[in-house]
Amino acid sequence: MSSRGNFSSKIGFIAAASGSAVGLGNIWRFPFEVANGGGAAFLIIYINFCFLLCLPLMITEIAIGRKTQRDASSAFAHLGFPKWSILGKMGILASIIGLSLYYVIAAWSFGYFLEMLIGNFSIGAQFNDYIKDVIKIGFYGLIFLSITAFIVSKGISGGVEKASKILMPALLVLLIFIACYALTLPNAFQGISFYLVPDFSEIKLPIIYTALGQAFFSLSLGMAIHITFGSFVSKNDNILSSASAITLTDVGVAFLAGIMIFPIVAYQSSGVIEGVNGGPGLIFQTLPSVFESLGPWMGVLIGSCFFLLLTFAALTSAVSLLEVPVTYLVDQHKVRRNLAVILMTIFIFLLGIPSLIGNGYSSFFTNFIQYGSEGTPTDFLTFLIHTNDVIMLSGGFLISIFGAYKWGKSNLNNEIAVGNPAYKGSKAEKLIKLMISYFCPIVLGLILILTILDRYFGITLV
Ligand code: PFF
Repeated sequence: MSSRGNFSSKIGFIAAASGSAVGLGNIWRFPFEVANGGGAAFLIIYINFCFLLCLPLMITEIAIGRKTQRDASSAFAHLGFPKWSILGKMGILASIIGLSLYYVIAAWSFGYFLEMLIGNFSIGAQFNDYIKDVIKIGFYGLIFLSITAFIVSKGISGGVEKASKILMPALLVLLIFIACYALTLPNAFQGISFYLVPDFSEIKLPIIYTALGQAFFSLSLGMAIHITFGSFVSKNDNILSSASAITLTDVGVAFLAGIMIFPIVAYQSSGVIEGVNGGPGLIFQTLPSVFESLGPWMGVLIGSCFFLLLTFAALTSAVSLLEVPVTYLVDQHKVRRNLAVILMTIFIFLLGIPSLIGNGYSSFFTNFIQYGSEGTPTDFLTFLIHTNDVIMLSGGFLISIFGAYKWGKSNLNNEIAVGNPAYKGSKAEKLIKLMISYFCPIVLGLILILTILDRYFGITLV
């Protein structure tokens, strides 16, 4: 590998990895999963998974990347375990599936930006019809994917990183502003108590595996992304503190999105929040009328800025999603970079069409599958989210087995200690050993088995 270069600073790495992590997962997916999962109980399980299970896995991925200075696929061979490069391949599959549904939601967000610009606040109520306009949404999706492809083909993500250093904080400021405003709305309190006061009797198996899938998706885990990022991290950097900062940022943004959404949901449903339909349309159905209540000028300004910044957050994540299969084609199959980008983009666009038309336009893809344990059919996009979750969780399970038992705990800990000598013999070292060797593989393995049995075979053991 020639002159790979490094991140110019620790902050540069944290910003780039957070740019990949913070995206639609935090602001679009997180709130509706919380709503479906019964509120605060979901939130608590989610936060625990992020810090106890995902953080050690992220540290392991980064350590593998930094040790080998290789892309995800060849990293395992470099460590002497060529068969484990299957993990890289699973990551590639997950990123292709992930991007095929991601661009559809990004297209909704971009379309909403245009609607907000012309002050069409009634779009929230017309959401179901809006997304049935597959030509329009498909066109927006194509624009979004083309920009993503352009950035990846030019290798100009440096520019995107620079832009995101301004735009991401701007999104954060806007989220805080909207959240503060939402808290002043009538019935806001009911929304906040749904979000923050847990009712543990609500906890059922699907809530647990959905929370884990959401944690993986949001932190970009199990897709070998952090191995790639890790390969550019300097040997002087402290992996532990960088990974903690990325996790904190990502969880923080998702948490804030909840503080913003639930008062609004409660306001619109006159305080009766249980049973609110929290599907993938949640933020698109609820936010426009709140922007309208800000008054015509403020509404247009805040509404269009919000959806523009959300689209931008999606773009930084989409760039890293596309980079994974493109790098694979270039490095392993010697395909020219531009050709690899074009082929992958066309393939992903086509793969996204069932997700695009499965929102009411095609009844086949709208009622795509009926899971064993559920009464109503699931649409194709939601089916892909679930399938991707299973692939990511399997990737995470294998990473923990690899880190603890193949590469080995001591090699892993030696790498974590590079750039952080105080790590050796510390409590953190003991904790990470424990998590990676026992907690992660056991919990992940168990949840994977229970999920597959419950969802696909309708066999609920707990
Ligand atoms: N973490 C991103 C989000 O929450 O929107 C999605 C994502 C981006 C997943 C990049 C995986 C990835 F490699």
